[in-house]
Amino acid sequence: MGAEGSLVIENVTLSTPLPEQGSWQVVTTPDAYVVIEGGIVSEVGKGTPPRAESILDGCGRAAIPALCDPHTHAIFAGWRAREFEMRLTGKGYKEILAAGGGILDTVRATREASGDDLARLLRRRLDAMLSRGVLTCEVKSGYGLDVDTEIRMLKAISEAGKDHPVDVVSTFLGAHAVPGEWSGDGAGYIEEVVVPLIGEIARRGLAEFVDVFCEPGAFSVAESRRVLEAATGAGLGLRIHADELEASGGAALAAEMGCASAEHLLSAPPDQLLQMRDADVTAVLLPGTALVLGQPYAQGRWMVDQGMSVALGSDFNPGSSPIIDMGLIMVLACLQMKMTPAEVLVAATRNAAMSLGRRDRGVVAPGYRGDLVILDAPQYTHLMYRPGARLVSSVISAGDVVFSEDITDL
Ligand code: NIG
Ligand code: FE
Repeated sequence: MGAEGSLVIENVTLSTPLPEQGSWQVVTTPDAYVVIEGGIVSEVGKGTPPRAESILDGCGRAAIPALCDPHTHAIFAGWRAREFEMRLTGKGYKEILAAGGGILDTVRATREASGDDLARLLRRRLDAMLSRGVLTCEVKSGYGLDVDTEIRMLKAISEAGKDHPVDVVSTFLGAHAVPGEWSGDGAGYIEEVVVPLIGEIARRGLAEFVDVFCEPGAFSVAESRRVLEAATGAGLGLRIHADELEASGGAALAAEMGCASAEHLLSAPPDQLLQMRDADVTAVLLPGTALVLGQPYAQGRWMVDQGMSVALGSDFNPGSSPIIDMGLIMVLACLQMKMTPAEVLVAATRNAAMSLGRRDRGVVAPGYRGDLVILDAPQYTHLMYRPGARLVSSVISAGDVVFSEDITDL
């Protein structure tokens, strides 16, 4: 029904963040109903709902805003199971990259893939995200590292997102690694390939954001600044992979450049995190990477306590986080980063959407998009409490039921 009709979701235990940026509160209303008209929430109430063309009985289950995954590398060809085994026997992630493997292995496979292949793979991954309650996600390029493949990836992202219920935000990550043909000359690669591509991508409307992997072994602070300045000049939004494995000045650079987000931050020094807070940069935390690479987790609890804006994402990619499930990310945020379930819900909905510039979602309240998830559980906290459980029973996008699964609670 979406744009035309109306849908009432009734008999749910509704839990939602508040609209106010900075609030960590989740308001829970038992026996709630939600009216969606023309794709937008028009009313939220308790008890008996008004009449509507369609009624969805939630049978007392928990309902939340649809999830948002603000950091993925979901477009790529080939997996890296061999590298997984190498890391298990003690090889380091950056050691493998420095030897021409890791990200560069995926670059080789992706350069060989057609645009149609890449779009088909991404659509399947969007289906998987949808079945886990995600209706908005970010997807980065960054496995082409040459003009043709980066453009092909960005076009495939837009193709895959067309007519798919998951709303895709695309990010140009040309500065993901120094490709083999520019080995030892990261600055030259940025000047000759990445900066000109930023101009072209902005002109052709192929990405909303530009990202850079600021890390020893990838790009220095000066090189990253050059990328972000070019992005600002082209009118694109800024994101940065900062302090993922080593403290390298990425968080301070994010504050200096006014990035929408700095992501990872496993090794970010506290004073630089506070600079990010004061510059209103969202910390996008990706605990899947800490799990997979065996690194200490980012200081999520401390960041929330310091009044930072914190969001959560999967970092889904074939190397450091082959995790497509935001459910597992939410579990890790509670158990390993010591965030409360309410904070985790806010971080995976409203804050994640805000970091992507989507202020129309992530909250269930009048005026917001009618994007909800109904869980096969009585409270939303089951998402964080039951690792590996399949709890998404329905996903509603702008008032349309776009996914439903008949699961019965165990
Ligand atoms: O966010 N650090 C850079 N990029 C990804 C990993 C990509 C890969 O290993 O393929 C990350 O961890
Ligand atoms: Fe990443």
